[in-house]
Amino acid sequence: MSTWPQWLPLNERLQPLSPYGAPQLPAEAILNTNESPFSLSPIITKAIGARVEAVAENLNRYPDRDATALRSELANFINSLSNTSLTSENISAANGSNEIIQSLFLAFGDQGALGFTPSYSMHPLIARVTNTDWVDGRRRADFSLDIDLAKNEILKHAPSLAFVTTPNNPTGGTVTIAEIEELAQVTSGLLVVDEAYAEFSDEISAVTLIKKYPNIVVIRTMSKAFSFAGARLGYLVADKAVIDALFLVRLPYHLSAITQAVAEVALEFRSELLGNVATLVSSREWVRHELEALNLAVLPSKANFLLFSGFDIPAPILWKSLLDAGVLIRDVGLSGYLRVTIGSEAENKLFIETLREILQGL
Ligand SMILES: Cc1ncc(COP(=O)(O)O)c(C=O)c1O
Repeated sequence: MSTWPQWLPLNERLQPLSPYGAPQLPAEAILNTNESPFSLSPIITKAIGARVEAVAENLNRYPDRDATALRSELANFINSLSNTSLTSENISAANGSNEIIQSLFLAFGDQGALGFTPSYSMHPLIARVTNTDWVDGRRRADFSLDIDLAKNEILKHAPSLAFVTTPNNPTGGTVTIAEIEELAQVTSGLLVVDEAYAEFSDEISAVTLIKKYPNIVVIRTMSKAFSFAGARLGYLVADKAVIDALFLVRLPYHLSAITQAVAEVALEFRSELLGNVATLVSSREWVRHELEALNLAVLPSKANFLLFSGFDIPAPILWKSLLDAGVLIRDVGLSGYLRVTIGSEAENKLFIETLREILQGL
């Protein structure tokens, strides 16, 4: 636990916390934060460079506060994927979906939030930072979501924000669109569906339900399937009333002109960028097969990562042995489990080979 100097008037609820910290360590294979392993092609980097140069001329001015052009392109993108008829008024854009999550707590957190753990660890952490009460809902022993139990928990706690992550991080499992609909029907506040990994999954997106259930709000990001984590662009798809409310808590000009411009370029090159999704999905199935061949158990996953178990040493020790051999994966703090992000072919092979050697040497 951190010890803060006594003179520092740090808010009491923050004193036991440590800053979010997936280790950023040098390694030959970086498979720990669910990024895309594919760097941008020279055509895209050139287009980004040209757009940044054009925007740079006007950096003496504040950016478009409402990011209207970008929000409109994001709406078009979602419409093209999900056959919806959303407009810029249904989109809020921010510096990564973490900022979206923070804004949701700031605007709607008064009656508390509920999520089903294990899930994305930042949901409860950002709740804490924003002084929002958080309830840990339960999952089955195999980490799948028991919808009847989930409905009961939502009814019992009546939170203003109920979180469902699908595909779920760190487990990779999904809930169906019919199950999302069931959850929305019992949610008196907002049902927040975190779809950070949606592009890797063949489930129907919850954005298709927003018209019927305006209390469904859907988080998306360009950090994963779009190969654009470094640009920091996340967004919310929701009813206009929700988006209007988020304008109350956003900081003025929070989304820089450069971020807006480069995200627009990424959307223009969406087919090329998302072209890597199919490769990652087939690599995921290769990694799964290899892990199972090592007698490990792998959870079903529709994301770009796998959670596995069945090794005979503590997870932190296996994690460290892999790191020492140049392979950085993720210890998500679940006893007996480790999570690996799907990387390039070379990274995946290195991971499997290294793991095989470690397990055989035990
Ligand atoms: C489920 C989920 N939601 C949101 C995020 C945040 O992504 P970003 O802030 O990069 O958009 C992540 C990142 O790992 C995630 O796993």
